[in-house]
Amino acid sequence: MPALLDPSDPDRSVQWPLPPARPLPTGQRALRLAVMASGNGSNFEALVRACRQGSPKAEVVQLLVNNPGCGAIARAERLAIPWQLVDHRQQPSREALDQQLIASLQPQAVDLVVMAGWMRIVTPVLIAAFPNRLVNIHPSLLPSFRGLNAVGQALAAGVTLTGCTAHLVGEAVDAGPILVQAAVPVLAGDDAISLGQRIQRQEHRILPLAVQLAAERLGLGQAAAGAQG
Ligand code: GRF
Repeated sequence: MPALLDPSDPDRSVQWPLPPARPLPTGQRALRLAVMASGNGSNFEALVRACRQGSPKAEVVQLLVNNPGCGAIARAERLAIPWQLVDHRQQPSREALDQQLIASLQPQAVDLVVMAGWMRIVTPVLIAAFPNRLVNIHPSLLPSFRGLNAVGQALAAGVTLTGCTAHLVGEAVDAGPILVQAAVPVLAGDDAISLGQRIQRQEHRILPLAVQLAAERLGLGQAAAGAQG
């Protein structure tokens, strides 16, 4: 019985919703995804690999980064994903950065944009260009521990459960409709690295599912009305 399993197992998590038992709808076209990343890019790579295994039925067509030399770029090279640098240091304002992002994204005709470790606050400019189509991953059980250093915040608060959340992006930082969450235990002796790694293993699982759910909510990728007879 799942309820009696040892929750202190380091890789134990409680995820909701569970991955769908049903098969993906047939006839669905592959979604076109863009990813925005600032750092290591492990969530970006996990999403690419999930797409290449067919769930979600999607293709990551573009990576945007804001930091030259960040780890996500090396992953994109290895995975043969086109990437582009949009350096916030070259922009006079957050809005101007978002305009540059939009200019890069729109020609790609992406269905969803995934913020996978995007460490810039986005403005209503970007949100309005992709309404309900921006997905973010955050290393806490929102609404707890918004903002920077969520793992450190959880350790400082002494919580015994924390986790990660994939959600649609709203105007407030780390807020917006929740798509998927996974709870993980905080173990005795944890530091920000050990707990962060445990959380990230769950992020890599829930982000592909969140993309699938966001697409289903919007009816993205479904055949046009009447096309299936
Ligand atoms: C993740 O923990 C994510 O929740 C946060 O930034 C981190 C990015 O990690 N927003 P990575 O670059 O995907 O490895």
